Amino acid sequence: MTKKLYIKTYGCQMNVYDSTRMGDVLAPLGYVETDSPQGADMVILNTCHIREKAAEKMYSDLGRIRLEKVAQAEAGKKMIVAVAGCVAQAEGEEIIARMPYVDMVVGPQSYHTLPDLIAETERSKQSVTKLDFVEEKKFDLLPETFHPQGVSAFVSIQEGCDKFCTFCVVPYTRGAEFSRPLEAILHEVKAHVAQGAKEITLLGQNVNAYHGLDKDGQEVTLAALIKKIAPLDGIQRIRYTTSHPRDMDDALIAAHGEVKNLMPLLHLPIQSGSDKILKAMNRKHTAADYIAIIEKLRAARPDMAFTSDFIVGFPGETDEDFEDTMKLVETVGFMTGYVFKYSPRTGTPAAEKENQVPEALMDARMRRLMDYLAEQQLRFNQRMLGTVQPVLVDREGKREGQWIGKTPYMQSVVLENAVHYNQQMIDVRIDEAYGLSLKGEVLHEI
Ligand code: 5AD
Ligand code: SF4
Repeated sequence: MTKKLYIKTYGCQMNVYDSTRMGDVLAPLGYVETDSPQGADMVILNTCHIREKAAEKMYSDLGRIRLEKVAQAEAGKKMIVAVAGCVAQAEGEEIIARMPYVDMVVGPQSYHTLPDLIAETERSKQSVTKLDFVEEKKFDLLPETFHPQGVSAFVSIQEGCDKFCTFCVVPYTRGAEFSRPLEAILHEVKAHVAQGAKEITLLGQNVNAYHGLDKDGQEVTLAALIKKIAPLDGIQRIRYTTSHPRDMDDALIAAHGEVKNLMPLLHLPIQSGSDKILKAMNRKHTAADYIAIIEKLRAARPDMAFTSDFIVGFPGETDEDFEDTMKLVETVGFMTGYVFKYSPRTGTPAAEKENQVPEALMDARMRRLMDYLAEQQLRFNQRMLGTVQPVLVDREGKREGQWIGKTPYMQSVVLENAVHYNQQMIDVRIDEAYGLSLKGEVLHEI
């Protein structure tokens, strides 16, 4: 008998990956994924705790899900409501105290126990909480089957973080750094390729700190892992995210020049251009260190492009500090960037600081930085005009016959009458460039 499973994912790509794995764990129990909570037998909210807004969103969604649960109960059905992810890990039992109709709270390291937790709530009719931190086990105990992710697949290779940036909850919600063994990753990559994946994105909170073991118990770096994956049949593109500047070692930088199917776009968050703020954030690098890494990467591969995350309004950020960030953005010339207003997170050192920046000032800085990054993005997109780019077509567009694919730089390219190119890598001449997308003409199949 099949049951309907609705999973809502918030936050980062690690959560997107974890959601696919929760689907894999529950499939043998007859759960099939559906795209709405209406009529679902089980709802999982896979939550994000990185900023306050993300956590608030989960609580407002839970309110709506309660109504569905009540409606089902009136019709004699029992819907199971689970809160997973980082809010689950951070707030634990508090969630059940606040929302007693939540049946289970399960942390990111315990997804393999979902079938047991379901049995337990059904048996005891009580809410259950599972927040253990046994990272290694989770990966060993998750099923060997991976449901198809399409032409572009994500594979988690590393979890957790030992860096303790003073604003960040990740070291507390995801725990200490843990790297999966090489063979397990290769097995998973091959399974996705067999199911049609052409692009593999290696995921980790601190992905370039990867140091998994090979069959002989020797440590393997991210550069070495990439070189194992690159020659596998069918792999056309490799990406990895998210990286920390401190772990951009020389071998990884060199790999960008050596491995053709390693894409020339790197997401390398700097957070701020001010050395004073970087120090207060405990980032363990300066603005000059960051620029030196960018220069080395450009020397290894001249067509490299970069994106970054920025936090504005970190406690103690002055106008001068913010101007340093603007200057850094000018110096580097990003493809684009993501700007966040500092959000104090309970339990992190920066939340205790007294010199918090007023909201209005954060808003103004955010606007300026976003506008500047949008300008850089438009210029970057315009540089593509007239060039021929390999485009991996992966989704339908809004209009009839329209398809959308990605360039090596993750730019979306809209193609007309391209239905037969779905899931294919094709050559496209770029004819129009906008802030967030490109348009082009298909030349021929690669
Ligand atoms: N406030 C604002 N932004 C944050 N980030 C992480 N923690 C916080 C916080 N407390 C941002 C960082 C990180 C991205 C994923 O989220 O820029 O790189
Ligand atoms: Fe958070 Fe810093 Fe670790 Fe990134 S490197 S997850 S920002 S603590």
